[in-house]
Amino acid sequence: MIGPREADRIWDRHVLNSVAMADLVADGVSVVDVGSGAGLPGIPLAIRRPDLQITLLEPLLRRATFLAEAVTELGLTDRVTVVRARAEDHDAQYDVITARAVAPLPRLLTWCLPLMRPAGELLALKGSSAADEIDQSRQLLTKRRLYADVVSVRAHPRAESTQVVRVRAVR
Ligand SMILES: C[S@@+](CC[C@H](N)C(=O)[O-])C[C@H]1O[C@@H](n2cnc3c(N)ncnc32)[C@H](O)[C@@H]1O
Repeated sequence: MIGPREADRIWDRHVLNSVAMADLVADGVSVVDVGSGAGLPGIPLAIRRPDLQITLLEPLLRRATFLAEAVTELGLTDRVTVVRARAEDHDAQYDVITARAVAPLPRLLTWCLPLMRPAGELLALKGSSAADEIDQSRQLLTKRRLYADVVSVRAHPRAESTQVVRVRAVR
């Protein structure tokens, strides 16, 4: 489910990177993890935050099957649902949309904005490209009256920090 050279760095590069965004998510909200793949960031987030209802959205059969097995194995079925679909074909709305390594921000916004409740937000794990991707999305953000900022997060004080692009309606 992840690249062949990733096994040695699965904890730091993938799991902790996913958990790092946990503090940005409000209590008890609904979350959709778009393009969840191997369950990143959705599954670490679900384990770290038992108060959340999380949908893992993934179009590929093999990955969606893996996700369903992982959710069952981890005992998360009461609050984590797997949906096999592309974001642009999924008809539901959520308080928070998460995405990691799915698409450049302008395309991600086009796919994800219909899934976002009016007071909701998109949290895209972007690392060092975060500010540039916001610049590339300026036109769309302005047209849709959205505000984007970059938030630096880390899973714990000694973990590497990463950057999240946060997109919300202008308030
Ligand atoms: C590079 S993987 C990243 C997976 C995971 N988020 C991670 O960080 O490891 C991109 C994932 O996005 C999914 N994807 C591609 N296009 C999509 C779309 N239109 N809607 C939802 N998911 C999509 C792919 O099937 C793939 O699982």
